[in-house]
Amino acid sequence: MMAGKQVVRVGLDDRAYEIRIGAGLLQRAGHEIAPILNRPRVAILTDENVARLHLSTLERALDDAAIAHAALTLPAGEGTKSWAQLQHVVEWLLAERVERDDMIIALGGGVIGDLTGFAAAILRRGVGFIQMPTTLLAQVDSSVGGKTGINSPQGKNLIGAFKQPALVLADIAVLGTLDARDFLAGYGEVVKYGALGDEGFFAWLEENGPALAAGDMALRAEMVRRSCEMKAGIVARDELEHGERALLNLGHTFGHALEAATGYGDRLLHGEGVAIGMALAFELSSRLGLCSQECPSRLRAHLRAMNMKCDLSDIAGDLPDADGLVALMAQDKKVQDGVPRFVLVRDIGAAFVTGDVPARAVRDLLAEALAAR
Ligand code: GLY
Repeated sequence: MMAGKQVVRVGLDDRAYEIRIGAGLLQRAGHEIAPILNRPRVAILTDENVARLHLSTLERALDDAAIAHAALTLPAGEGTKSWAQLQHVVEWLLAERVERDDMIIALGGGVIGDLTGFAAAILRRGVGFIQMPTTLLAQVDSSVGGKTGINSPQGKNLIGAFKQPALVLADIAVLGTLDARDFLAGYGEVVKYGALGDEGFFAWLEENGPALAAGDMALRAEMVRRSCEMKAGIVARDELEHGERALLNLGHTFGHALEAATGYGDRLLHGEGVAIGMALAFELSSRLGLCSQECPSRLRAHLRAMNMKCDLSDIAGDLPDADGLVALMAQDKKVQDGVPRFVLVRDIGAAFVTGDVPARAVRDLLAEALAAR
């Protein structure tokens, strides 16, 4: 076994799989995946940015293990999670004669992972796939747990399927190729794990966040491991999001509205929307008397210490007014009977889901946050 490799198991009976975490996993990917292949042949999906940085490393690693490979490189960006690219991918996989017992590799961030997983779910009624996440967000969140899909012109992630990967290989050395903004956007999802369910992890992040952002590999591996352990536990207990898994949406009800308002692009990255959304959810919890006033202050202090966005004033350009943002929340996937569901907190590490939030409290909070811009 490679020195320093850590393994987190996602316990889903006959669909259980490992998340392997460590520096240098991409270089030895062929040997890592060989035991789970039915024949020595894989198809790789990636995007232009990731291909430039990492595709040749993966291809060499597959050659080292005598695994044949073909790769399709897609445009980078959220626009790739579309019907048109799904069709392109599925037709390419069929042309490559990918069979039911074969494996497809998703080499990239959340967009490539989500699209590949969905293509794997529908190709020949289901083929296997392996996640090789190259962003922090994908390593700690989107590559684990089997949510796959594409976007509709009517909204994000509205078309998809649950399809668990056969293996996740998270090479933390590739995080060194991310720019600071992308790293911190992924870190928003890491903070989320502490904030929703583990005060001890949150305190660990307060202590170690600056050093791991500066590049400490051992701390980065520990951060990814603890995040994956939390997610794996939640997914194993509630794979299809009938209960506890909804806690992973902390910050997302506000965050998705802000992403929709800013066009799902460079103005506000998903993880940035989650960070601002968490700050708003904590503030709302405090105003509703559910947690102390220190709770939102402590969360915000950590986000600020990490130079992360945490206020509406951190978003450049115009935003809709409070009513406009509330209307965007009503489009959320989690709406039940037209009422948005919120993840609120009783403390750092003690989140819960509720549909019982006075609309007035949400509107007032947003109106004040907008006025402070
Ligand atoms: N990203 C939230 C989930 O996987 O449930």
